[in-house]
Amino acid sequence: MNESWKPASQRYCCRVCAAELPIATPLPWRCQRANNFDRHHALAVIGSRESVESESVESESVDSESVDSESDNPFLAFRERLTWDAFAQQVGVTAEGRIEAIAALDDDIAAVAGSGFRFTPFARNDGVSAALGFNETGGVWIKDETNNVGGSHKARHLFTTMLQLRLAESLSLAPWSGRSNRPALAIASCGNAAIAAATIAAAARWPIQVFVPHWAGGTVVDMLSALDAVIIRCERLEGDPPGDPCIREFRRAVAGGAIPFSVQGTENVTCLDGGRTIGWEIGSQARHLGIGIDRMFVQVGGGALASCLGASAPVDKFHMVQTEGCAPLSRAWALAMVADADVHAAAWHWAELMWPWGTEPKSVADGILDDETYDWLGVFEAMVRSNGWPITATEAEIVAAYGLGRSKSGIDVSATGTAGLAGLLAIIEQIGPDERVAVVFSGVERPGTS
Ligand SMILES: Cc1ncc(COP(=O)(O)O)c(C=O)c1O
Ligand SMILES: [Zn+2]
Repeated sequence: MNESWKPASQRYCCRVCAAELPIATPLPWRCQRANNFDRHHALAVIGSRESVESESVESESVDSESVDSESDNPFLAFRERLTWDAFAQQVGVTAEGRIEAIAALDDDIAAVAGSGFRFTPFARNDGVSAALGFNETGGVWIKDETNNVGGSHKARHLFTTMLQLRLAESLSLAPWSGRSNRPALAIASCGNAAIAAATIAAAARWPIQVFVPHWAGGTVVDMLSALDAVIIRCERLEGDPPGDPCIREFRRAVAGGAIPFSVQGTENVTCLDGGRTIGWEIGSQARHLGIGIDRMFVQVGGGALASCLGASAPVDKFHMVQTEGCAPLSRAWALAMVADADVHAAAWHWAELMWPWGTEPKSVADGILDDETYDWLGVFEAMVRSNGWPITATEAEIVAAYGLGRSKSGIDVSATGTAGLAGLLAIIEQIGPDERVAVVFSGVERPGTS
C-alpha cells in the first residue's frame, strides 16, 4: 500500500488549539495548554487505530464493526473500539492481559455494587409510543440505564478512567509509586456522577474526595458516606467569579495533585472513552431488532453523555435537550448560527459562545443544571454532522415527560433521566407517526434528588 494512503494514526488532539498527545500517554487528562486562566481547551481522539493485532484472541482486524459478541459485558464486547485498549496495547499489554484487566475491574465492581457492567435494555415502549400518536412502524425506543452500575449511565464513563489508572500504576507509568502512595481521586458532583465515582473508587480501594454544594444532603450524601468518600462542601463566596464553586474547589484539588475523576471531558478525556459503550450497545441492539433510528433526544448537563452518544449511536439526527432553567448549549448554538460558525470556528470563539448560565439554574431535572456545557464542542459536532439541533424544553414539558415516562414504562426513572423525552414532547408536531425515536432513561429516581 502506498504510504500516503495510510490512515493517520490515532492520537489525542485539542479541538481548540490542535495540541496533540500520543495515545500511549499514561494519564492524558486534558490539553497541556489548559491552565487556571484558560480552560477553553478540549481533547478528542482523532485518527484511526492502525494495527492489526497478531496476538489478538479474536484475530480480527480493528474496525468499526469489531464486536466480541460472546460477551454481555459492553467493555469486553466493544473492547477493540476503546481508546484504553489502544493505550494498553501500545504500552505492551497483550490482548489476553487487556481482557483480564477489564474482567478483574468488573469483578471488583460487582463485589461492591452487586453486579458489574452488562448490556442494558433497549426496547420500544408501546405505552409512550401510543400516547404520542406513533403508528406501528414508528415509536419511542428507550435505553434503560436505571439498573446500570450506580443507578445511571455515569459509571460507564469512569470505568475506562479507572482502567487507565490501574494500568499506569501497575506498569510504573504514573508519577506515584505503589498503591500506598496513590493520590486521591477528585470529582465535583452531588448526583449520579458522584455515586458512580465513589462506587468505582470503593471497588478499586482508591481514596476519593467529592466536592458538593454546601447545602447538599439526603440520599446521595448518605450513599457517598457509605462508600467511604470524603465529602467536601463548597460555598459560593462574595465576589467569586461566575461558575460552580464545586468545580473551582475540584480544580484546586487537582492542581494540588488529586486525580481528575470527573465526567467532564475537558477535565478528564478518558471519560469520553467508556461513555461510548452506551451508543455501541444501542447500535448492536437496533441491528438485532432490525430497525434504524431516525432521531435521538439526549438530555445535556455538562455534555459528556451527549458527546459520547454523538460519537457512538447510529442515529440519523441528534437533538440535544436542555431545560429553560439552564440552557447554555442552545444559547451557544443560536449565537453560532447567527455567526454562521462551523464547529471549528465555534471552538475558536469559545468565550463568545459558551459561558456560565447567568441566573441560578433551576429545574426538577436537577442533574442537567451544569451552568456550563463543558463538552459542548463534541455535542455541537454530533448535531452539525446529523443536521440536528438543540431543544430547550419548558419546565412543563420536563414535568410532563417525567410523568409520561414513568407511568407508561414502569421504569423507576428520575426527571433528569426522562429529560430527553421532554425534547420530543417539545417538537412532537414536527415528528412523523412512522419515525423511530430513541431516548435514554439515564438514571434511577432517588428521594431528595433527580
Ligand atoms: C441521570 C443523568 N442523566 C443525564 C445527565 C447528563 O449528563 P452530562 O452531564 O454528561 O450531560 C446526568 C448528569 O448528571 C445524569 O445524572
Ligand atoms: Zn488545547
